[in-house]
Amino acid sequence: MHASVSSSPASVTPVVAQAAVVAQAVVLDTGGQYCHLIARKIRELGIYSEVKPSETPATELAGARAIIISGGPSSVYDPGSPTVDPAIFGSSAAVLGICYGLQLAAYLLGGKVEKVDRGEYGRALLSVHGDSPLVEGWQGKPRQVWMSHRDTVVALPEGFTGLATTDTCPFAAAADEARRVYGVQFHPEVVHTHEGMSLLRNFLFGIAGCARDWDPSQVVDQLEEEIRQVVGERNVFFFISGGVDSTVAYTLCLRALGADRVRGIYVDTGLMRKGETRFVRDLFGSLGGGASVHVAEAEPYFLEKLEGVVDPEAKRHCIGQEFLEVQNRILETEHFLDGNWILGQGTIYPDTIESGGTAKADLIKTHHNRVEGIQRLMAENRIVEPLHNLYKDEVREVGAQLGIPHAFLHRHPFPGPGLAIRCLCAAEAEAPARIDGGWLLPLRSVGVQGDSRSYKPVLLMDLPDSWPSGGWETAYDQATHLINANDQFNRVVLEPVRGAIAAELCNVRPSSITRERLDRLRDADALVREVCLASGFEHEVWQFPVILAPYGTEAAPDSIVLRPIQSVDGMTAQSVGMPFAVLRGLCEQLLALPGIATVLYDLTHKPPGTIEWE
Ligand code: XMP
Repeated sequence: MHASVSSSPASVTPVVAQAAVVAQAVVLDTGGQYCHLIARKIRELGIYSEVKPSETPATELAGARAIIISGGPSSVYDPGSPTVDPAIFGSSAAVLGICYGLQLAAYLLGGKVEKVDRGEYGRALLSVHGDSPLVEGWQGKPRQVWMSHRDTVVALPEGFTGLATTDTCPFAAAADEARRVYGVQFHPEVVHTHEGMSLLRNFLFGIAGCARDWDPSQVVDQLEEEIRQVVGERNVFFFISGGVDSTVAYTLCLRALGADRVRGIYVDTGLMRKGETRFVRDLFGSLGGGASVHVAEAEPYFLEKLEGVVDPEAKRHCIGQEFLEVQNRILETEHFLDGNWILGQGTIYPDTIESGGTAKADLIKTHHNRVEGIQRLMAENRIVEPLHNLYKDEVREVGAQLGIPHAFLHRHPFPGPGLAIRCLCAAEAEAPARIDGGWLLPLRSVGVQGDSRSYKPVLLMDLPDSWPSGGWETAYDQATHLINANDQFNRVVLEPVRGAIAAELCNVRPSSITRERLDRLRDADALVREVCLASGFEHEVWQFPVILAPYGTEAAPDSIVLRPIQSVDGMTAQSVGMPFAVLRGLCEQLLALPGIATVLYDLTHKPPGTIEWE
């Protein structure tokens, strides 16, 4: 990430929060979706930064050199909208307001903010006309910046100078050099603001006087020391998932404490991918130090709970419940609730914030690792979370330092409930219906439209006349057109191998999660992964769910849906077309598997479709 940093471990900022230490750069959270992105980008520049509630008193920020007020969804005139302690302006720290942060600074210092006629969303061209260290290097030609606002600063407070404009924004950047208060209406932290990092660099190094103090590859020794301090004489147990975070946290504890003081338990739910349990066992075996993982076999419990369950939310509920029961049984039988054991977890920085770590975060979601027994351990302070101040990419860097294989650290994300949410179920037998544009398949899957959940059938779209020579673009255009024009369905698929089986011959049949169907899905999923790894396609996508859908014939009752997507964080996603030669070969192999009627390809972006079908 920042290879040029040469700080020794001793000079790196402490990673475990110590009340007296304030990070050099503090991001004040006013509820913006990019708040964490700002902190991450600052860390990428080699400066340790933390996110704090916007209302944090200035006295608690003494010692910070740079304070950044994030963007947020509110208007400064909304009652109860987030604010900051005005004492931060003119303090020893330089302040940069971004978007709402600029508006808030302007408003609090006597300027004027208004809701103007035209909002400004997405790309804008910024013309810099002022002279300030903030925009050094930005003069001359217009620059592409990313905007997302309707409220606009229309009059600056006294002492401020406008530095830049766009077509709609009179004060797209402004500065009060005497008080060292700066603001930008655009978002320097997003990649679409082409030179955003240079603006952050100008502010942090040039104006605020920050010094490099952060390099995640240098913190391993320190993290281990902190683990030893927190754990003391006790031992640590982990519920590991085979995911990156819990694996890195576990490995750190192993190195800090030695193999006989650390235990890892992996719950085999029976809902995992083919070979996953063996993979986890081998991986942990290779981590060194004599580590071993205890595998808790729980498949029969999960399958029994899921028998006959069709509804996606009900499936998730069953799995969640069973997981809690299994965990509680393990806590009891292994005597982990005794005083000499504490719980290790792979919680990372955004998780601590999302589960109520800061003032504005309680609305987002409750963290999954909070069962009763575990809550008790937490209440008693018997928990160690060595990654709690790190972002995901920093965790990967620490993992690399620990010698964890690169391929593992960059695995595609895999959902906690496992293949259960990729094994589609149906309550009744139903036949497809011919509608304009294709066949309406009575296979209901989850989607997200207008910020709310949908649960609707799928359209099996007629292949474009030019298929496949016309390429993916025509198919995606046709799919987008159909989905925007018809609200009977929330997804569009196509059958890439023409006429594998006629829709007239297929039915949706009643089905729930069974061992047989899971095995069928596991085989198909393993085949897809094998082909994708061999062709290199695996590295071109962010995730590639393979779904088993109860659509087929008596002899071949299920179909396979391919859902490769591109994404950054899973919040939005774009469906991706595979190279035809790879796809054709893959389909042939999938169709040769027992029980598979056809292969479908999901053309739906998110929104309107979610990534998983559930
Ligand atoms: P959706 O289907 O909501 O998925 O578009 C977005 C991303 O989240 C993953 N996902 C989960 N991950 N536990 C997880 O750890 C879950 O319960 C869960 N459900 C969905 C999904 O794989 C995708 O990457």
